[in-house]
Amino acid sequence: MKSKSFLLGTIIILFTLQLKINSQVTLIPKPREANITSGSFSFTSGFAIKSTGVSRQLIDYTSHQLLREFDLLPETVVRPNFPVLELKIDNTFLNDKPEAYSLKVTPKEITILSSNERGVFYGVQTLLQILVKAGKVNNEVKIYSGEITDYPQYSWRGLNLDCSRHFMSKEFIKRYIEILAFYKFNTFHWHLTDDQGWRIEIKKYPKLTEIGAWRKEADGSIYGGYYTQQDIKEIVAYAKERFINIVPEIEMPGHSLASLASYPENSCTGGPFEVGIVWGVMKDIYCAGRDSTFYFLQDILDEVTALFPGKYVHIGGDEAPKDRWKECSKCQARIKSEGLKDEHELQSYFIKRIAKYLRSKGKEMIGWDEILQGGLAEGAIVQSWQSFMGAYVAAKQGHYTICSPASYTYLNSDPDNLDLRIAYSFNPVPDELNEEEKKFVLGSEVNLWTEEAPEETVDSKLFPRILAFAEVFWSNPEGRNYEEFYKRVQASYKDLDAMRIKYGRETKVFTPKTSFDSDKNEFVVELNKGQAGTDIYYSMDGSDPDINSILYNEPIRINKSVTLNLAAFRNKHDLGKKFSLSFDLHKALNAEITIKNKYDERYRASGDNALIDGVRATENLHDGCWQGYEGVDFEAVIDLGEEKEISKVSPRFMLNSNSWIFLPEKVTISIAEDEDEFMEEKTIVNDVPQKNSEIVLKDFTAAFNNKPARYIKVKAESIKKCPDWHPGAGGKAWLFIDEIVVE
Ligand code: ACM
Ligand code: ZN
Repeated sequence: MKSKSFLLGTIIILFTLQLKINSQVTLIPKPREANITSGSFSFTSGFAIKSTGVSRQLIDYTSHQLLREFDLLPETVVRPNFPVLELKIDNTFLNDKPEAYSLKVTPKEITILSSNERGVFYGVQTLLQILVKAGKVNNEVKIYSGEITDYPQYSWRGLNLDCSRHFMSKEFIKRYIEILAFYKFNTFHWHLTDDQGWRIEIKKYPKLTEIGAWRKEADGSIYGGYYTQQDIKEIVAYAKERFINIVPEIEMPGHSLASLASYPENSCTGGPFEVGIVWGVMKDIYCAGRDSTFYFLQDILDEVTALFPGKYVHIGGDEAPKDRWKECSKCQARIKSEGLKDEHELQSYFIKRIAKYLRSKGKEMIGWDEILQGGLAEGAIVQSWQSFMGAYVAAKQGHYTICSPASYTYLNSDPDNLDLRIAYSFNPVPDELNEEEKKFVLGSEVNLWTEEAPEETVDSKLFPRILAFAEVFWSNPEGRNYEEFYKRVQASYKDLDAMRIKYGRETKVFTPKTSFDSDKNEFVVELNKGQAGTDIYYSMDGSDPDINSILYNEPIRINKSVTLNLAAFRNKHDLGKKFSLSFDLHKALNAEITIKNKYDERYRASGDNALIDGVRATENLHDGCWQGYEGVDFEAVIDLGEEKEISKVSPRFMLNSNSWIFLPEKVTISIAEDEDEFMEEKTIVNDVPQKNSEIVLKDFTAAFNNKPARYIKVKAESIKKCPDWHPGAGGKAWLFIDEIVVE
């Protein structure tokens, strides 16, 4: 009995100790095993780096980081009693795990050990993160003694950054490579070509960057940029030093409009084309019937493979509509001569031909999951984006796969919808695979498509959510615990500040709820906060709110027509969430409205009354204020309940061509004293070009010179079908309306 309770006591003491130890390890990604022992190692000016079997480059990199980040200058000559940082290759250490390392800290010595350089590099990253967290106090960085043994869950841990839709500078790319390494990512998937911009210099085809790298925006301005081959060499070398493999993506056969604008002879129709300015999926793609298209692409791949030393080239393969191929005599002749069943098999022919060429150059091809259509090319790696299905099917067929479904890994999705918790719940391996098949899942990638993300906003899209992926990709999935991870994220904001990362939101920061207090004739705005530690500041004078504006701490009461601007901050850091609510105390408030054609149930706002509730919609089509009408006109009659003097009637509509939402061709507004006697009909014809990648909110205003009226009729004529130039040409067009302001 006695010995049993002694044993139990010991277990409890050990367990408590373990908890204490773990709570001090706030690293992301979380290491496999970490123990803190008593004592500490102190970095001051006098210490040395010692190495065994490690390259000069890695030693220099380590010294450089210590100097740059912490102003610590290591010496390479070890003097007696000098504290030592040792980098050591020992090829017996966990040598079945290519990126494994151990980091041991004693008061006298830090030892980073691995069977290879890559492992040593990750040990150095862990040390750097510990140093960032410790911070420099009185010229000293002090860290706990202890030991970490660590290795990754997946061998493929990537970020895919779209540099076509928005161009990112060379310095920015290097900065991201550094950040990726710090969080133990090992792959930078560089999306270099798309409809809206070709970003890589190809010497043999100079027009790709002379023409294809620049687009003329709707306002006439020119947007663009590209990487010279020299830039790319520099970035590749920089990445190599940080053990980041760069996978270039050269899109084909679709997403190729910028290329076709430069060399239209590679299309089915011969063009001419312009570099894309609206987002979406374009019908003009490379012609699969012309051999010259393949020679062109092979020449490009020759230059690409010479620039990027890695084993992999991504060829896109996604979202290639078959409309042009169906109408092209050359494509049809190819289908016949190759004995193909249809255009899907022609896509497969296209991809297989390119894959074969890449194989002949010793490279492996990666494509998005559409490359499964019509049969996979030998050795092709499938990147699953539409769901987990691509990864599942590829692994079943014995093909390697990168599993990055949009629902989890597309960080262009707003954190309101894809938040930190969802990100952390991601598991790249489909459960339905057996143990053997699971081995084909190499890992995953975070993806950032940049239609809505110019360079200066990239940090706020990726952070802090990318931390969840750093951990999912690296750490042991067993024992994953969101609450515990969440605490480490909170502890990491300080690190992000130190690294000058302009992080955004974890989740929805607030949900506004507006109501109308008709006794006092006031709107009341309540905010339900979603993200802990967030402060909301607001202004009502049209200015952008900052930390000197009014801090929200009780419902806001509004008794005039005004725009309420809100912004979210963490401490003093702007989380990049701006939000506006506009209120109109106009004459139709609380009137009755009868709408002729029914709005779509997905875009019903708060029902019929949403159009005269005084709350104005924003540029966000999902803000709960917009009513959407698909392929039909809008017509409504408002009954003010009594006669009022009318000076103007002003319904607002949205143009958002990327979401298939267009302005009405014209709006007709009439007023009446009696329901059946509408008169004073005014027609406002649309004068805003529909071909525009920007969102436009337009008021169609009719003036009425203080006429008395009780009834108001508003008719808006929809264009009904998407125009010819639009990716959805011929499909139903949407009409979006909110608030019919009556004054
Ligand atoms: C993709 O998002 N079209 C790969
Ligand atoms: Zn063709």
